[in-house]
Amino acid sequence: MKKVTSIILAAGLGKRMRSASPKVLHPVCGKPMLFYSIEALKNIKIDRIVVIGHKGESVKGYFADKGVAFVEQEPQLGTGHAVICTEKKLRSFRGDLLILSGDVPLIKPGTLKGLIRFHHQKDATVSFITTFLKGPAGYGRVIRDDNSSVKRIVEEKDATAKEKAIQEVNTGIYIIRSDFLFSNLNKLKRENAQGEYYLPDLIPLAIRRGGKVAVLTHTDSTEVMGVNNRIELAEANRIMRERINRGLMMNGVTIIAPHATYIDHGIKVGKDTTIYPNAVLNGGTSIGSGCVIEEGSKIIDSSLGRGVTIRSYSIIEHSKIGNGVSIGPFARLRPDNVISNGAKIGNFVEVKNSRVGRGTKVNHLSYIGDAEIGSGVNVGAGTITCNYDGIRKYKTTIRDGVFIGSDTQLIAPVEIGKEAYIGSGSTITRNVPPRSLALSRVEQKIVKEWVEKRKGKAKKLKIDN
Ligand code: UD1
Ligand code: CA
Repeated sequence: MKKVTSIILAAGLGKRMRSASPKVLHPVCGKPMLFYSIEALKNIKIDRIVVIGHKGESVKGYFADKGVAFVEQEPQLGTGHAVICTEKKLRSFRGDLLILSGDVPLIKPGTLKGLIRFHHQKDATVSFITTFLKGPAGYGRVIRDDNSSVKRIVEEKDATAKEKAIQEVNTGIYIIRSDFLFSNLNKLKRENAQGEYYLPDLIPLAIRRGGKVAVLTHTDSTEVMGVNNRIELAEANRIMRERINRGLMMNGVTIIAPHATYIDHGIKVGKDTTIYPNAVLNGGTSIGSGCVIEEGSKIIDSSLGRGVTIRSYSIIEHSKIGNGVSIGPFARLRPDNVISNGAKIGNFVEVKNSRVGRGTKVNHLSYIGDAEIGSGVNVGAGTITCNYDGIRKYKTTIRDGVFIGSDTQLIAPVEIGKEAYIGSGSTITRNVPPRSLALSRVEQKIVKEWVEKRKGKAKKLKIDN
């Protein structure tokens, strides 16, 4: 098999996105669209050179350690010019160059492999993929002669009305012999509507020089779609989402409303987990088997064990959730929590940078921040860890088996010893020894017949303790 290496074009401004960030960094299901071209090539074990330019530093920043080499194109004078910029790097390379854009996120590895095989079978100079589109606007149209051999590609902006009616389009995915490529790129001209060096102009050049041009027509036009604007970005996201959700469903995950379930690329979900509508699973999240993720919950960069229930409208960020845990509804886990097996975080509870032990319950309306809570603890409704004095943050430690009465404030740093009790409504400022009761509330007073007195029926106030 002849040697193949690849060039991914990602230097363009992406004008049609109307964005401050480079087009290829716009996300499709949680990953920049450029990620997918790189992944597809990685998958078929082909080395990758990425041409960067517009906001190249941010593109480089994201992909720095992702197994690609970079070449800079400055200024950006078109797709042909982008390839010219790789010449130095590829000087000693002999073989075929697979060239594609960074804006085809739906491309599958098998399709690229198929193009390579096809190119070698045909022993072609240039091979490329076309597809048919009912609405071909924006794409280069494929011009064929009377024998239906390809002659050239005409860009939308250079096309006549008759040419614009052609539905066969260039997908921008090519494989080209390196010797032909680098001895002909300098013959490209900028005499076109955009004043750019067009890579597709190599096709008539190859024909003129007696080279063979082979065309592979791909039937799934959505897979090879280019993303140039936000409408196409939304469409690419929709199709990718559908692929991800179908993949999960085939692996035993129940998704009640796949069209309204937003799961990023690469997220693992175990068998017999059920996901309700409008759930959002982002980043490096992984979900175990037999879990239930209810409506409107969002889970970011977190891992969930087996049999976890996330009730409606909860947000979980960068946390580790053990087996059999129940969270929500309306709970918020800010980053860096470890919630152990069987624990329960109930409604309107906020937890941050805390460890919650096995079987511990924080059921209602609490704030737990910078805390370490042991196992079998019961944290009453409305308990607050006062972790911040306006300058620094402090830790609250609650040992195993503690019972914290409702509406307690724990002024950190403070430690509640094993199996201690805190009476409701207490403000705890000092450590509580194990197995003792701490109470800090003011004793209750009763003012008898106060109401009548207030109405002026009695002359003197009589306080009865
Ligand atoms: C290109 C093709 C068109 C094809 C379409 C398929 C050309 C001239 N046209 O058009 O025939 O139908 O793709 O999607 O090639 N880029 C650079 N440097 C540049 C310009 C562009 O690296 O100077 C990169 C872009 O970042 C992008 C890719 O090349 O990833 C394609 O550029 P784009 O402007 O999207 O080309 P299209 O107009 O879509
Ligand atoms: Ca494009």
